Amino acid sequence: MHSVSSISDSNLFPYLRVQGEIDLSGQIEISGAKNSALVLMAASLLTEEPIHLSNVPKLTDIDVMAKLLSSIGANVNQISNELDIKTNGLSLSQNSLPYELVNALRASFVCIGPLLARFGEVKIPLPGGCRIGARPINEHIRGLRALGATVTFEGENVLAKTTNLRNKLIGTKIRLTCKSVGATETILMASILAEGKTTIENAAREPEIQDLANMLTKMGAKIKGAGTSTIIIEGVDHLKGCIHKVIPDRIEAGTFLIASAITRCPITIFPVIPKHLEAVLIKLQECGCLIKQTENTIKIIPGKTIYAVDITTMPFPGFPTDLQAPFMSLLSTAKGTSKIEETIFEKRMQHVGELQRMGAQIQLHDNIALIQGVNKLFATSLTGGDLRSSAAMVLAGLVAKGTSVIKGLSHLDRGYENFEKKLCNLGANIKRTEVKRPISNRKNTEKLESKMNVGSGSQVA
Ligand code: UD1
Repeated sequence: MHSVSSISDSNLFPYLRVQGEIDLSGQIEISGAKNSALVLMAASLLTEEPIHLSNVPKLTDIDVMAKLLSSIGANVNQISNELDIKTNGLSLSQNSLPYELVNALRASFVCIGPLLARFGEVKIPLPGGCRIGARPINEHIRGLRALGATVTFEGENVLAKTTNLRNKLIGTKIRLTCKSVGATETILMASILAEGKTTIENAAREPEIQDLANMLTKMGAKIKGAGTSTIIIEGVDHLKGCIHKVIPDRIEAGTFLIASAITRCPITIFPVIPKHLEAVLIKLQECGCLIKQTENTIKIIPGKTIYAVDITTMPFPGFPTDLQAPFMSLLSTAKGTSKIEETIFEKRMQHVGELQRMGAQIQLHDNIALIQGVNKLFATSLTGGDLRSSAAMVLAGLVAKGTSVIKGLSHLDRGYENFEKKLCNLGANIKRTEVKRPISNRKNTEKLESKMNVGSGSQVA
């Protein structure tokens, strides 16, 4: 899979130095939700009229999606956290989206729904297989076929076409075999301009889907039941432009709550929608944290001792898979033995090895981790293998003895806006350095790592 960093500058080798045993205090402003913003950008393809999105986080994933929309003729302009998209000049003349961009960002595959609905035909490369699991697209394809499209595979491309002279999809009833967020979004967007009524059963209920439905409704779509397992869409002929504010990022919010718990220091986060974080708040309370919430803020006051808890990742409203890795860092420091079972993605335990190298006592049996809490983690040189495990490494680094060096930042930068800056505002001591040299040069990389002088207390297995 091409990494996003390979699109920007493959000669930069950035890393963080995270000083451990640090106290945090204060308030953190939560950014707009990455996973919402990405799909809202794709939804802008459904109308010729301008879309204005506010509270859009500045992230490399957002840049890739913007490049993707621009590559087919959209006019995309981001100033600070405001994003304007105009798709009236859209041209699918080459009849395909660029391989490098779709492959770099799996979420971009959801463009298939709106483009098919608007143009009656689309060719889009298969999304990259990501490191956390196989991540198939069979449910997206099954949904589009149920709506009357023919979907074929040509080499590395998926070709979807409507089959009637009106270039329209036809409403139908679709039951998803798994509660896929992406497939729910693809089918929802495809069905908005379809003829007649579409019912999506066993739909994903994530807040990002509710945010999408809210924006589509502002654009003139007729949707009932978003946020429940059954979504009903009455097709309309035309959608108009709109202004929409992206919801706060519940995963970023959860990550900072865990940062508070792991350092045993109270902090306040805002703005948030506490209902989006219920499963996480329950587990933090079980761990011994006091939670005080208002309509849009959460204050967390961790106990001196964090207690072991068991967690099973589930689709929303269950415990989010995206917070499994950060929570494992926390439980590595808890009193007692915790069990974490990952049920959504089959390869989302790569952080286990890194935490073990910091001294965490974790036994892994397939996708079940047994974590025996330890009194101390120790700094070392770490690599985040995916977005959320990179965040988990930084959190573990905040409490470890010594200074951790964390690599794999292209993942972190995909999903957390100003992550280390926000932590530094709370009192953390994190420094980012970028070395200009190809990361692929193993010999030099090894020399560089020894020069980086991993801090005292480091334990390299
Ligand atoms: C989205 C989120 C990601 C989050 C995940 C689960 C975005 C950009 N990403 O990813 O951060 O971790 O939801 O909450 O919003 N599946 C199939 N067939 C399909 C599609 C999915 O079997 O056609 C399976 C997947 O292999 C996985 C499960 O369904 O086991 C959930 O995947 P899905 O909800 O689709 O995740 P994404 O939309 O890719």
